Amino acid sequence: MDRQGNIVILTGAGISAESGLRTFRAEDGLWEDHRVEDVATPQAFRRDPDLVQRFYDERRANILAAEPNAAHRALARLDAEWPQDGSGSLLIVTQNIDDLHERAGASRVLHMHGEGLAVWCTACDARHSWHGTLRDDPPCPSCGETALRPDIVWFGEMPYRMEEIFAALSRADLFVSIGTSGAVYPAAGFVQQASGHGARTLELNLDRSAGSQWFDETRLGPASELVPQWVDEVLGRAGA
Ligand code: APR
Repeated sequence: MDRQGNIVILTGAGISAESGLRTFRAEDGLWEDHRVEDVATPQAFRRDPDLVQRFYDERRANILAAEPNAAHRALARLDAEWPQDGSGSLLIVTQNIDDLHERAGASRVLHMHGEGLAVWCTACDARHSWHGTLRDDPPCPSCGETALRPDIVWFGEMPYRMEEIFAALSRADLFVSIGTSGAVYPAAGFVQQASGHGARTLELNLDRSAGSQWFDETRLGPASELVPQWVDEVLGRAGA
């Protein structure tokens, strides 16, 4: 197979909006009900753990009630059909804490802001899949301590697996950003990282974002339309 190329895809809340999961910075956004600093920081968790636990209990329930949409399914199809050998690679870096990429069937997914359906024990460092609530302070399945927190990267904490992400960006032939406002670093800087290493860059978003100026091409519209269309193009070109 001739060289298909290395693709890095960044997804944000916009790809899950049509699955009914609220984004952060729209007028009806998640942060409208809560100030970020009141629920998504380590200080907030120390100050009012019950509020933070209840906020993420709500997120967890919303995730479980949501279904993947056509955009998640299209990326899963690309993941299934794109090479994972010397002729090409693919990595979906998501800022989202939902599991809709995985439930659509994607496997090469990296959650840089953690996962809403996982918990982290601050006593023994174990991580566990978790579909229940934390507001009732349940014991850690590993050590029994009541020290579980959402396995979410809060503001001021280091996003996960950044080395792996930077390595993928440095090898990318194509960087595609889907459904993100480009408001939060380091994710907002990935487009410049990728293009600095010679990648072509494409943005698929409902509105222009803070980073649109850095992309070779921006297509505006709902992800459920733009993403399947783009995947057809990519697989069509590859003759897959
Ligand atoms: N299709 C495509 N894009 C959409 C859709 C849709 N149906 N609906 C909304 N969008 C776009 C919006 O235009 C916006 O640019 O998705 C983007 C959502 O932006 P944010 O709400 O800022 O979400 P995101 O970019 O993922 O936020 C990044 O900030 O709050 C932190 O940790 C949180 O991971 C989050 C990070």
